[in-house]
Amino acid sequence: MTGKMADRMIVASSSLQGKMKMLGDKSISHRAVILASIAQGKSCIEGIQEGKDLLATMQCMQNLGVQIEEDGKYLFIEGKGLRGLKEPEDILNCQNSGTTMRILSGVLSAQNFYSVLTGDISLRKRPMERIVLPLGKMGARIWSRKGYLAPLSIKGGALRGIEYSLPVASAQVKSSLLLAGLYAEGVSRVKEPYPSRDHTERMLSFMDADIHVDSSRIAVRGGKEIKARDFFIPGDFSAAAFFIGGAAVLEGSRVKIEKVGVNPTRCGFLEILIEMGAKIKLCNRNIICNEEVADIEVESTSKLQGVKVNKEKVPRFLDEIPILAVVACFAEGKTLIEGAKELRVKETDRIKALCVELNKMGARIEEREDGMLIQGAGKLKGTEVYSWEDHRIAMALAIAGILAQGTTVIHNARCIDISFPDFWEKLEKIRGRRPRMR
Ligand code: S3P
Repeated sequence: MTGKMADRMIVASSSLQGKMKMLGDKSISHRAVILASIAQGKSCIEGIQEGKDLLATMQCMQNLGVQIEEDGKYLFIEGKGLRGLKEPEDILNCQNSGTTMRILSGVLSAQNFYSVLTGDISLRKRPMERIVLPLGKMGARIWSRKGYLAPLSIKGGALRGIEYSLPVASAQVKSSLLLAGLYAEGVSRVKEPYPSRDHTERMLSFMDADIHVDSSRIAVRGGKEIKARDFFIPGDFSAAAFFIGGAAVLEGSRVKIEKVGVNPTRCGFLEILIEMGAKIKLCNRNIICNEEVADIEVESTSKLQGVKVNKEKVPRFLDEIPILAVVACFAEGKTLIEGAKELRVKETDRIKALCVELNKMGARIEEREDGMLIQGAGKLKGTEVYSWEDHRIAMALAIAGILAQGTTVIHNARCIDISFPDFWEKLEKIRGRRPRMR
């Protein structure tokens, strides 16, 4: 770290080498904690992710009366059943976590009590209309600030099943409605324009909910209790992606990441890298707790080609666009990312943040309303950049820093703790050092 604790200095690396495991997948961890809390019986979770977003979810569930105990590498959750949560005595703080606020709103809409959800300055700017409106159609009473912004006040009550087509593919919104659907009278049906991550559907079926999935439509029948389970959370693909991207570019690299979640609705980034010419292998494939798991091996390649990625693919690699933008700076030719307007309403406006910060490092990226056009520059140069207080922007810049010539300083890099608290230790373990260029 440099003088200010939150800043981080990075020097170029010679290669990335080694074997490692990631902490548990963030999306699956949130769902396991929330669903285990409303299940019947005691669940045991192995491999939970412990970034700040997850701590926010656990704190909210504890404030709703759920008992959560940690014992070594296991987390035990005493499920309350669908109707057993208690009214929280104070506001529930989701901190920076959109997943917590949106998914939990679905559950709270059906409770026989009053609750208020808030978050940090970033979360209080993010769009909540996408859950407030459909939950309202189910009968939920939710009040918000002007523009459907949090804090959200929820007076829970009886819900009814609806049929709803999501205007944008969003796993958080879909999950919120499916969880509300567990409580609703009749059947709730949700349709997506393009498939987004399906962890909720898989977990609900693993926990014996009355759920049916056919192509793009999911139906859940309300009123049936879900069952506690023993969960194994696979390694976080979105965290692994930073090392996969770095190793694909950096000459002489060879990295193996074990037991990573490779759910097809999450692995669009691997397909894109392979299309760009990257050398990637998946081995030891397995299905654990209804999720696909594998070891991912990646080796650097001398030439990556630019690609065009469009709308339908975006939900399958949404969180990997920051690292894809970095990789594309080293590919030959142009990379065009379209249909990714959703990036503008993440923890920060990620399209703008990537264009501004990577261009400071000598990238040639043109900002588009719904994405970006990246002209491979073949190199980046170290300089001072800013995280925009967004964990994925900070990590993408860290990888840009090890690929760049010279020294990079990332201001406010502490936000990486949101999803990847041991990022620097892991990076340190696999990186070789390259003499600094003047
Ligand atoms: C998530 C869904 C995605 C993703 C986010 C996690 C989830 O968001 O970007 O990091 O766990 O459901 P959207 O639902 O807004 O697309």
